[in-house]
Formats: sequence, structure tokens, C-alpha cells
Amino acid sequence: MGRFVPKDTFYKKAKLEGYRARSAYKLKEIQDKYRIIKKGDKVLDLGCAPGSFIQIIAQEIGRDGLVVGIDIQPVTPIPDKNVSTITGDIRDIDVSKILQRFSIPHFDVITCDIAPNLSGIREADEKNIDELYDASKHIVVNTLRTGGHFILKSFFSESFSSKQKDLKNLFVRVSIFKPTSSRGMSSEIFFVCKERMG
Ligand SMILES: C[S@@+](CC[C@H](N)C(=O)[O-])C[C@H]1O[C@@H](n2cnc3c(N)ncnc32)[C@H](O)[C@@H]1O
Repeated sequence: MGRFVPKDTFYKKAKLEGYRARSAYKLKEIQDKYRIIKKGDKVLDLGCAPGSFIQIIAQEIGRDGLVVGIDIQPVTPIPDKNVSTITGDIRDIDVSKILQRFSIPHFDVITCDIAPNLSGIREADEKNIDELYDASKHIVVNTLRTGGHFILKSFFSESFSSKQKDLKNLFVRVSIFKPTSSRGMSSEIFFVCKERMG
């Protein structure tokens, strides 16, 4: 029989407030502190299922904005007109086709909350985490406008400092943020990267 895990406060809050996942509060905290997403922005959300980041983003961008979400798993449709989701692996996706499909030259903000499936085998997991980082960076380099912002979930792993260094070569400011809504025992943190350099 499985171990009983009590439902936490943010899980219950999300249910009550109509968010699809507790992750909504992580993005809310980031947005409150760093004011990343603006009205009218075109935003790409990597690893978007079940869609709570998208719910927050859709509120922030308003009717003139657009949020496109990508996930390996299909997302139950979100009825807002400014939302679109694509089922696919970010390692295989052709980003130029996405820009073409929505007739936009670039995104203003990219968020990435991807959590890889961990096998428990350290080398394999590190490789998987690094591959996903490379894929998200490829997307950022090819679709984020100069001056645009990137929010990336990461974990304290061997490659943490090298990723931080790498991001500092791409963005004017790179902050590390641990939302209070993120489980204390989890090693997840967010890189909040502001102003992509040209
Ligand atoms: C923590 S969940 C994201 C929660 C989401 N931000 C929200 O607020 O609802 C992580 C997601 O990453 C997705 N994912 C994992 N590997 C992926 C990949 N290679 N390409 C696209 N999505 C991936 C998973 O399917 C999962 O839905």
C-alpha cells in the first residue's frame, strides 16, 4: 500500500482558486517580485501541462497577448482566446515553425517548468537534465527577442554552476529564486533571467 501523503496548503489553495496545479503560486511569486510578464506579451511556456503557469500568464498578458504552451503530454484545452497548446517534446520541436504558425517574429518571455522523469541512476539523470537544458537554451537563443526574459526551473545538481555561468553570458541579470510555495524539501530553484543580450 502507498504511503499516505497529506495534501499541502498550496495544493488545497489551487483547488479552491481554480488553478490546475500548485505551480501557479510559484510563477505568481516570481511575477510579484520581478514583474517579468507584461500586458500584450507573447509568451512561450515549456513543459506546460496541466496548465497552471498558462492560467497565470493568460491573466497577465491580457487579450492582446499570446501564450503558447508545449508539453509531451496533451493538455486539457484552456478556453481563453489568447492560449494555444502544442503536444511535443521540446528536444524535437521546430521552433521556427511555431513562430511562423502564430505569425510572430519572436517571444517576449519564455518560461520553463520542465521536470524530467528521474530514473535514480545519477549519470543518466544528469544527462537527461543537461539535454533538456540544452533544448530549452536552443529555443531561447532562436526565439526570444533581445531584451526578453527567461524563467527556468532548475535543480541543485553537478551542472548547476555551469548553467548559471552560461545564462550569465546570455542575460544582463540572472537571479536565483526559491518560491515559498515550492516544497521545502525539493531542491528545485528558479533562474530568473532578465534582458537577453543582443
Ligand atoms: C512540473 S510539470 C509542469 C507544470 C506546469 N508548469 C503547470 O503549471 O501546470 C513538468 C512538465 O514537464 C513536461 N515535460 C517533461 N519532459 C518534457 C519534454 N522533453 N518536452 C516537453 N515537456 C516535457 C512533463 O510532461 C510535465 O507536464
